[in-house]
Amino acid sequence: MNPTKLKEWETLQEHFKEIKELHLKDLFNQDKQRADLFSIESCGLFVDYSKNRVNERTMKLLFELAERLDLRNEIARMFNGEKINRTEDRPVLHVALRNCSDRQYLVDGIDVMEDVNRVITKMERFSDAIRDQSFRGFTNKPIKNLVNIGIGGSDLGPLMVYESLKHYSLKSLRLRFVSNVDATHFIEQTMDLDPEETLFIIASKTFTTQETMTNAQNAKVWLLKKLKDPNAVKKHFVALSTNYEKVTLFGIDPDNIFEFWDWVGGRYSLTSAIGLSLMIALGKEHFYRLRKGFQMMDDHFEKEPLPRNLPVILALLGLWYNNFFGCETHAILPYDQYMHRFPAYFQQGDMESNGKSVDRDGEALTYQSGPIIWGEPGTNGQHAFFQLIHQGTKLIPCDFIGFINSLHPDKDPHQKLMANFFAQQEALAFGKTNEQLKAENTREDIIPFKVFSGNRPSTCVLANKLTPETLGSLIALYEHKIFVQGILWNIYSFDQWGVELGKQLASRILPELKKTSPIAEDHDGSTKNLIDYFLKHQE
Ligand code: F6P
Repeated sequence: MNPTKLKEWETLQEHFKEIKELHLKDLFNQDKQRADLFSIESCGLFVDYSKNRVNERTMKLLFELAERLDLRNEIARMFNGEKINRTEDRPVLHVALRNCSDRQYLVDGIDVMEDVNRVITKMERFSDAIRDQSFRGFTNKPIKNLVNIGIGGSDLGPLMVYESLKHYSLKSLRLRFVSNVDATHFIEQTMDLDPEETLFIIASKTFTTQETMTNAQNAKVWLLKKLKDPNAVKKHFVALSTNYEKVTLFGIDPDNIFEFWDWVGGRYSLTSAIGLSLMIALGKEHFYRLRKGFQMMDDHFEKEPLPRNLPVILALLGLWYNNFFGCETHAILPYDQYMHRFPAYFQQGDMESNGKSVDRDGEALTYQSGPIIWGEPGTNGQHAFFQLIHQGTKLIPCDFIGFINSLHPDKDPHQKLMANFFAQQEALAFGKTNEQLKAENTREDIIPFKVFSGNRPSTCVLANKLTPETLGSLIALYEHKIFVQGILWNIYSFDQWGVELGKQLASRILPELKKTSPIAEDHDGSTKNLIDYFLKHQE
């Protein structure tokens, strides 16, 4: 259903004309209860969305739109294991991966929880064996270094969570991540490691991804350079994959394959076997707590009525800015250095899911779909791009994510961090007027440059402390937001055909760069020239 053709959309359009003229100051003045009205506490998160350019009627109309688009039913279809990823003919059941209860999740009538729990148990045993040093390398040395080789969802998820929960990690283990096919990445990440103490975790759903396969082969060469005997591979490589055949062909011991299934999307896979490096680094208890946090938000999402449902609210606010205000981007700003890869993780999560331009009937969209996601941790961002958010010509809705308590004992830096956290949201919403500047005796001629228009929206997500549970809930919050937006925009969020063409063309160009094929005549003039120039100047 094209949402823009609905009467509910038309009503929102009419309503938008009123709202766009209103300043957040007016909205707060009109309703003294606004902050309470637009705040929800659930799953360990306190979400205040009152500094958004909405009133009660806006939210009511947005919820009506969601109802009209059958959102409740669509949520149920996902949880019921229906093949909602139609273009790949697959169910989308990442919620089963973090199900810690005895609930069943069915795929083609078969409960997948038995498989999920079997793999989790296998991961736990392996993780314990690395941590207690009963699993040893080929020369009987304990494993002290883990190198996760993967890309996209097989890299960003474990990397982001490892960084976010580093505080809880085993300090005697080093965890490194190699993703880029650029040799620099592998070389720099491994140059100080002893092969005898290193375990490579090859993370690839398909086990065909060019970057990962290249790095995995390089890892084998690197290992065997020191250990000589090909049997060493069995003791220094494990695989996380759905492709048993390709993994065994690579030479990895079938006992060291941690499987997952095609109903797990790459960018939604971090609580599957893809999380093995995390489980080893954090310990199985912390990994379990992370899954519990995810599950808490999954339950909330499945059961809460739409007006109290956090992922739904964030999704509707996103749609409001994207499709009515015409905002092109959305910033995610964690005020926590540990979470510095969180925005990058959801760059893939959101943009690979909702960066689509045809609807579920294959028709070209006549309206905007997914926004550009970006962000950096605070306060660093404040000294870089915040200028544009405060005074630029573009309207950028921002999510501020912060924690009441630090993981470190010294309160002073944390209080400073959080003072900035609250101040930025206040400044964005309420700005600073001409009159205020005059009252401060600001030089007349520079007043225009110092005015802050305000009325710039933000949502505040506050949690007590960065714990595994909180992080799990936060990740699931954004995952489900993305799902909801896909439904609202009538697009398929769980495929990613847009990454294919570049891969195909690269495999055609590669032999040209290796000079095993001539430069194809049917390249466009620019590509032909560039390849030619490259070959002429290559050393
Ligand atoms: O090319 C995009 C993509 O398919 C992502 O969706 C995925 O996360 C990544 O590549 C890695 O894929 P794989 O785990 O199969 O190596």
